Amino acid sequence: MKPKNCLIFGASGQIGRNLIRSLTKNNIKVTALTRNIHQKGYKLKTQANPGYLEIVEGSIFDYDLIKRLFSNADLCVNLVGILFEKGKNNFNNVHVEFPKMISKLASNYKLKKFIHLSALGIESAEDSIYAQSKLKGEKEILVNFDKAVIVRPSIVYSVDDNFTTQLMTLLGLLPVFPIYYNGKTKFRPILCSDLTNSLTKIISDNIEENIIEFVGPEEMSFKEILEKLLTSIEKKRLLLPMPITLARMTAYIFELLPKPLITNDQLRLLKYDNILSGKHKSNTDFDFDCSSRFEEEVNKYSYMWKDEGEYSKKRVN
Ligand SMILES: NC(=O)c1ccc[n+]([C@@H]2O[C@H](COP(=O)([O-])OP(=O)(O)OC[C@H]3O[C@@H](n4cnc5c(N)ncnc54)[C@H](OP(=O)(O)O)[C@@H]3O)[C@@H](O)[C@H]2O)c1
Repeated sequence: MKPKNCLIFGASGQIGRNLIRSLTKNNIKVTALTRNIHQKGYKLKTQANPGYLEIVEGSIFDYDLIKRLFSNADLCVNLVGILFEKGKNNFNNVHVEFPKMISKLASNYKLKKFIHLSALGIESAEDSIYAQSKLKGEKEILVNFDKAVIVRPSIVYSVDDNFTTQLMTLLGLLPVFPIYYNGKTKFRPILCSDLTNSLTKIISDNIEENIIEFVGPEEMSFKEILEKLLTSIEKKRLLLPMPITLARMTAYIFELLPKPLITNDQLRLLKYDNILSGKHKSNTDFDFDCSSRFEEEVNKYSYMWKDEGEYSKKRVN
C-alpha cells in the first residue's frame, strides 16, 4: 500500500521527534517543517529510515510554502507551541492565528486527518494568557475543520524533555529548592512515547473525536514529583514553599532572560490542577496504552544526574 504523507509542524521538539519514529515505523511518510535546518536538521534526520522523512526549512507564516506542503499531504499534525512570548513570537500568533490558517488549509485540501496538540487544564486556567490562547486556537480549528482531533496532554516526560531533565539539573545545583503553592498542584505525567504511539493509533484506527485528554496512570502533586526525582538521583534537598508575592517578583526578573525559567503567566497556570476535566473523553476511553509508570521510566535515564554519572548505574550480572 502506498504510504500516506503526514505533514508535521513543530517536528523537532520532544513530541515531534518521538512521533516521527512512531509514524514512519507504521509506514507513514513524514514532511517536517523547521525554522532552522542547520540547528535542527541533525536531530530530525536520524529519526526515520531513508526515504521516509523530508525536512523543509521555512517560517510557519510563509503562506505560499505552507500551501505547497499541504498540496502533497494526506495528514497533518500541529505541534507548534510556546511557553513564553517574545515580540511577534506571541501566544496569539502561534496558538491562534497559525492553527486557524492551517486548519483552513487542511479543510481546503481535504486532508484525511488533522491532529492538533493543545494542553490539559486550559478551560479552568482563566487568568493564563497561554491557556486562553490555546483554547481560542482550538475553537478556530473546530470551526474550520469539524473532524479535527484536538489532543490535550498533561505534562509529557522523556529523556528528551524540558521538564524532568531540567528539574533534575536544578535539584542537583540548588541546596534549597523553591516550590510554588506549597507544591500541591496535581499532575498526571505521561510518557512521551505512550502519547506519540497513541497519536499514530488515532491515525491508523481513524479515531474521530474532537477533544481527547491524555494522562499517565498516576496522579501526583508537584512536590511528590520533586521527591520522586530526588530519590531517583539519590539526593536530599530542602523543598521550601515560596510566598507567591516573592515568586512573582522573581518571575519578573526571569522574564528579562532570553529563555525564562518561569514567567508570571506560567506561575498563574501552575495554580490549576493538571488532571482530567471530566468534560471530555480521555485516553482511558480508547484502546491506547499509556500505562508507563513515572518512577520506573525516569530511573532508566536519571543516572546521569547522580554524583557518579554512568558509574552509579547498578550492575546486573
Ligand atoms: N511537553 C509537554 O509537556 C506538553 C504538555 C502539554 C501540551 N504540549 C503541547 O504539545 C506541543 C508540542 O510540545 P513539545 O514539548 O514537543 O514542544 P517543543 O519541544 O517546545 O517543540 C515545539 C517545536 O515547535 C517549533 N516552534 C516553536 N516555536 C515556534 C515558532 N514560533 N514558530 C515556528 N515553530 C516553532 C519548534 O520547531 P523548530 O525550531 O524546528 O521550528 C519546536 O521544536 C506544543 O503545542 C505544546 O504546547 C506539550
